[in-house]
Amino acid sequence: MHSVFVISGVSRGLGAALAHAVLARGDRLIGISRSPSPLGTHIVHDLAQPAGLADKLAPLLRAEVGPQVRRYVLVNNAGVLAPIGTRYDTADIERNLMVNLAAPIALSRVFLDILAEVPADKRVLNISSGAATRPIHGWSLYCAAKAGLEHFGRCLALEQQVAAHPADVVNISPGVIDTGMQAAIRAATPEQFPDLARFQALHAEGALATPEAIADKLLAGIDAGARHAGVTLPIDDFAAGRTDPA
Ligand SMILES: NC(=O)c1ccc[n+]([C@@H]2O[C@H](COP(=O)([O-])OP(=O)(O)OC[C@H]3O[C@@H](n4cnc5c(N)ncnc54)[C@H](OP(=O)(O)O)[C@@H]3O)[C@@H](O)[C@H]2O)c1
Repeated sequence: MHSVFVISGVSRGLGAALAHAVLARGDRLIGISRSPSPLGTHIVHDLAQPAGLADKLAPLLRAEVGPQVRRYVLVNNAGVLAPIGTRYDTADIERNLMVNLAAPIALSRVFLDILAEVPADKRVLNISSGAATRPIHGWSLYCAAKAGLEHFGRCLALEQQVAAHPADVVNISPGVIDTGMQAAIRAATPEQFPDLARFQALHAEGALATPEAIADKLLAGIDAGARHAGVTLPIDDFAAGRTDPA
């Protein structure tokens, strides 16, 4: 028996660490990112343009369905912080909301529809951020998109309650991780991002988690098998199998 993972944003950062960990334990992976990736089965797609993604994912996911699969997991991980600051145009707005919000919605729909009649354990994990609930000067699009993603997760969980074979849905706040996204934050100017010094200090103090450590916690939480009904959990609570924040 193995699990099948669909993970967006597998080319680097948290998604790449999770993809490596999934394959290392013998599970199957369908990964998505703009950059090609040698890990598992990979779909090259720009999530800023979700149209056409379903046509690429559907046949690959259908091919993985079978009685030997214990669990199907969608990890909506791909994300983008840009633009940082308060100067942005409609193209910036569209790009941020497409990648952070519209693409996870589109991926969740394909995943749940294809697996609707499959009675196995099914899970949708939305990788969110503390920015979903905490307003951050200069990150307004990212904050808005992550807030929307979390509320979409809650709606999805509600809708799944009446499904014949319901999937679990959870939003996860992963904490600060040492990835390219943090490097982009530190490369901003104080004018764009007044809280810059705090993030530079976190890095200088070695306070960022490694992507590998957070990937391991995600897998621990998935393996714990708890049902979450759309709640938002800090990564440590999820890893411990909790169903509500401690
Ligand atoms: N790092 C942190 O401290 C932190 C904190 C809280 C939450 N998070 C969340 O954790 C998740 C992972 O972040 P990370 O830090 O690992 O970010 P990262 O290092 O910047 O990696 C982002 C991943 O998303 C993919 N991606 C970005 N734009 C894309 C697009 N238009 N189409 C397809 N794929 C795209 C990238 O692949 P390509 O560039 O190859 O397309 C890459 O694989 C995100 O949802 C982020 O919001 C991170």
